[in-house]
This record gives sequence, structure tokens and C-alpha cells, in this order.
Amino acid sequence: MITYDQTKYLDGLKLKGDSDGHIVANYQIVSEHVAKRLSSKHQSEDILEVCCGIGATTIFLAKTFSNVIAVDLNGKRIDLAKENLQSLGLSNVNLINSDIFDLDMKSIREKYQTNVVYTDVEWTISGLYGQDHANHITDTSPATDKLFHFLSKNITNNICMRLPKTIDITELRHLLKCEIEKVYKNNKLSFINCYFGDLVEHKQSEFRFEWD
Ligand SMILES: C[S@@+](CC[C@H](N)C(=O)[O-])C[C@H]1O[C@@H](n2cnc3c(N)ncnc32)[C@H](O)[C@@H]1O
Repeated sequence: MITYDQTKYLDGLKLKGDSDGHIVANYQIVSEHVAKRLSSKHQSEDILEVCCGIGATTIFLAKTFSNVIAVDLNGKRIDLAKENLQSLGLSNVNLINSDIFDLDMKSIREKYQTNVVYTDVEWTISGLYGQDHANHITDTSPATDKLFHFLSKNITNNICMRLPKTIDITELRHLLKCEIEKVYKNNKLSFINCYFGDLVEHKQSEFRFEWD
């Protein structure tokens, strides 16, 4: 069922999405924080967003970057992202319905000035007792290690990855030197952002926000 949700957004912003799309969407306050942090190192550039879903993060990347190339495997979510962006008058996003590994990266490199990537893979795996959040980087969809190597080979290693709090941080640190930013909602660890390449500022950091 397609519904409007405003529980994760400010100033009455309502986004259209499928029920799972709403659940996995990022909070506006975190998306704005990430967009600001990434653009501070990559001003006037374009950004590649992998796994954009219904566009909850795309909106804030589009407000900060010159252009966004936003990719998702799920065609229905791409349509919803299109509607959400259109309703806000944001026209600097190229929405692409594709598996990231099938995308022609050469044409992206030729067409855009992009040296920074944001990713938000699926965290859940089916376990014995239902859905669990992944512990290992190989268990996200797409697999975080495969995605990291693909992006660093084809675009850049200036990558920010949003990941579940259950993920093995040692495995992430084996990919490349990185900064783990723990995101706390109402003093409770909610998820992490992992920064690589020139996005690294510290070994570890925190972002805290309050939400009703
Ligand atoms: C956590 S959701 C993204 C949420 C989104 N960032 C937001 O804030 O609304 C993960 C998305 O990854 C997409 N996805 C999974 N595997 C993919 C792949 N191989 N290529 C592109 N997108 C993929 C799914 O369709 C899903 O919409």
C-alpha cells in the first residue's frame, strides 16, 4: 500500500512510499547532517547515491549537491522517489532503475563530476526467527564488501555507507581505513555511518538527535 509518512521529517514534509520503504527511510536530520558533511569536502560536485529507495535521503543530497545520480533496483520505489522529488520542485536528480552492478560506470564518469558516493544498502537477512539485521558485511543486500570494491574501482573510495548497528566494525576497517560514526536517536544507538577516503575525519565519532 502506498501511503504518506511525515514521522521522520521536519516542517510538515510528507513523503510518499510503500510501507517497507517508509520503515527503512532515513531521518531528515541525519540525511541533512550527512549531506552537509559530504558536501563540505566535495563542494560544487555531483554525488552518486546507491540504493535511494523512495528518495528520503536523495531530497537532502539534491538540496546540497549540484546533481545527484540516484540508483535503486526497485522500480516502484524509483517512481515514488520521482514523485517525492517533483512535489518539492527538485529537478537535479537523475533517477536510475538498475542493479548498481549493471550500471555503466564509464558513462557516469563521463557525464558527471562525481568524486563522492553515498550508499544505504538493505540491512536485513532472513533468519530462523524472521528478519534480523546483518552482522557481517557480506550479508547486506547488496553485499557491503562487493559494493565497496566496485565503487572504489569505478568511481572513488570517498564513500559514506549507512549500515546497521549490528555490523562487524572490524570487517569494515579491513576494507580500508574508515571513520565509524555512531548515530544515536533519543540516546539509543540506532545505526552507523561509515566514512572512507577523504571523508574520514576521526577514527570514531557520534551524531545524536532527539525525535518524538
Ligand atoms: C535501506 S533501503 C534505502 C533507503 C533510502 N536510502 C531512504 O533513505 O529512503 C535499501 C534499498 O536498496 C535497494 N537495493 C538493494 N540491492 C540493490 C542493488 N543491487 N542495486 C541497487 N539498489 C539495490 C533496495 O531496492 C532498497 O530500496
